[in-house]
Amino acid sequence: MANESIWTFDAVEESDTARLGAALAEVLPNGTTVALCGTLGAGKTRLVQALAEASGVERRQVLSPTFVLIQEYHGRRSLYHIDAYRLRDADEFLALGPEEYFDGDGLVLIEWADRVEECLPKEMLEIRIDVTGPTSRRFTVRSIGERFAPIVAEIGRRMAL
Ligand SMILES: Nc1ncnc2c1ncn2[C@@H]1O[C@H](COP(=O)(O)OP(=O)(O)OP(=O)(O)O)[C@@H](O)[C@H]1O
Ligand SMILES: [Mg+2]
Repeated sequence: MANESIWTFDAVEESDTARLGAALAEVLPNGTTVALCGTLGAGKTRLVQALAEASGVERRQVLSPTFVLIQEYHGRRSLYHIDAYRLRDADEFLALGPEEYFDGDGLVLIEWADRVEECLPKEMLEIRIDVTGPTSRRFTVRSIGERFAPIVAEIGRRMAL
């Protein structure tokens, strides 16, 4: 894609992941959807916790959504946390009425987003997490759609400071 922007970040330990979450909280505009991909225990929920904490939400409120399919956290803005691992199929995802969240003012954070890929917005951020060691993780942040290309670049600049 012409304007696609990709930035990778190697977290050595969990505090690096926390710093990335804080940078995302600063940079992401209202209404952003973030598709989180990575294996069990990669750190998808941990990154959401970091983002939530930086948005004024208590970290312990943030768990993988188990009993409800969407968790809402209300801090300086609203966060909607979805775990597609819990969903049977894309139809169950669509039954949640995701468009309303995508078009809203909050941040939408979707774990296992690759499972509902065809239902996601055309413009969003994709974050892949690869486990590279016991406490190290490689984050690959990619813009989907033109709108997010400069935002990915901005995240990279902030993290370099
Ligand atoms: N650098 C790091 N970044 C994120 N998590 C880390 C890091 N180092 C160690 N961890 C640990 O890895 C685990 C990540 O778990 P987490 O629940 O976030 O994974 P997940 O990707 O959401 O898995 P699931 O698919 O089961 O929901 C936590 O126990 C966390 O403490
Ligand atoms: Mg999780």
